[in-house]
Amino acid sequence: MTTTYARRMRAMKPSTIREMLKLAEQPGVISFAGGLPAPELFPVDDIRAAAERVLAESGAQAFQYGASEGIVTLRARIADEMGDRGITCSAEDVLITTGSQQGLDLLGKVFLDPGDVILTETPTYLAAIQAFQCFEANFQPVATDDDGVIPEAVDELAAAGRVRFLYVIPNFQNPTGRTLSLARRRQLAEIAARRRLLIVEDDPYARLRYRGEHLPPIKSFDASGQVIYLSTFSKTVAPGFRIGWIVASGPMRDKLVIAKQAADLHTSSFDQLVLDRYLRDFDNRQHVERVCAAYGERYAVMDEALRRHMPEGFSWTRPEGGMFLWVSGPKTIDAMAVLAEAIDQGVAFVPGADFFPCGGGENHMRLNFSNADVRSIRDGIARLAEICARAW
Ligand SMILES: Cc1ncc(COP(=O)(O)O)c(C=O)c1O
Repeated sequence: MTTTYARRMRAMKPSTIREMLKLAEQPGVISFAGGLPAPELFPVDDIRAAAERVLAESGAQAFQYGASEGIVTLRARIADEMGDRGITCSAEDVLITTGSQQGLDLLGKVFLDPGDVILTETPTYLAAIQAFQCFEANFQPVATDDDGVIPEAVDELAAAGRVRFLYVIPNFQNPTGRTLSLARRRQLAEIAARRRLLIVEDDPYARLRYRGEHLPPIKSFDASGQVIYLSTFSKTVAPGFRIGWIVASGPMRDKLVIAKQAADLHTSSFDQLVLDRYLRDFDNRQHVERVCAAYGERYAVMDEALRRHMPEGFSWTRPEGGMFLWVSGPKTIDAMAVLAEAIDQGVAFVPGADFFPCGGGENHMRLNFSNADVRSIRDGIARLAEICARAW
């Protein structure tokens, strides 16, 4: 008997890369593949103390159903942090989500009909492509350079046809590590207002800057209410909390709350209370500084190892923060073939093609530098470079 699945499942293909990367999870493999924070830096003792206090003082609330929007004190704390990033909003404008990933799914539910067009950077975040594919969206990649997505190209595409929204990752983008320039942030906000173009600004890495100046988000220039901002505690506390948020107001926020109710009623009350307590009782700024110091060092070690070992013809980005850099090889390089050999040699990364929603990108590799220690980074890059030299 054959099983009939929903039409939307046709667009959702199993990933050969994911299958290959399962091999990378074996012990002994140096993995630059995942997007994992450094687990040894998780503030486990502080979280334990926060959890004990929640259990002692707010056990009943922690295990009861709660509001779909999230716990008010946490939302107010986030609204304050948004103020520090230049976004004026109140607790009412903040919707807690089960990770930013749920935020992307809710945006898909609220805004996408089959066939709707989404503008994306080239390349863009793989799991955003997957989230929007569930709603049978079509992707229109926008020209992108080292300063991020090119506003004139966005303007042209927005003028030419019906576009549902622009999806953009402004800081230390996943997968390239690129950052959208200040001038372009202003320009995009201006285009959003003039063209009534919705912008989804997905900003999980804002606080992971270890060189240069923090830049204000696109949302901070948004006078027209066309920019929806997402962020998360996954990189600044721990991804296991699965707590992120969306900043949106008025009817948009109301629709997102309805979608959230339908998805999971609310994000875990216990998790929200523990996170809120942790943020109240401990110095998260200091924690993030420690994380930035460690990632900054790992990045520098990776960059140095790449300079030392990579053959000519390969280039890579020099991010000022985040968790990834992006290696581009000569056009003839097939990163999938490199990966197959790399796994044999005990090194893993993600080939670039998966980050291009409309095909291409076979000669690129995404390398994560937050999860491996410096010795493994040196060793892994030396092995990878040897394979690249042979493939070239
Ligand atoms: C650009 C981007 N958006 C969203 C997410 C999802 O984050 P979360 O753990 O909050 O679901 C990630 C995670 O790596 C990401 O890189």
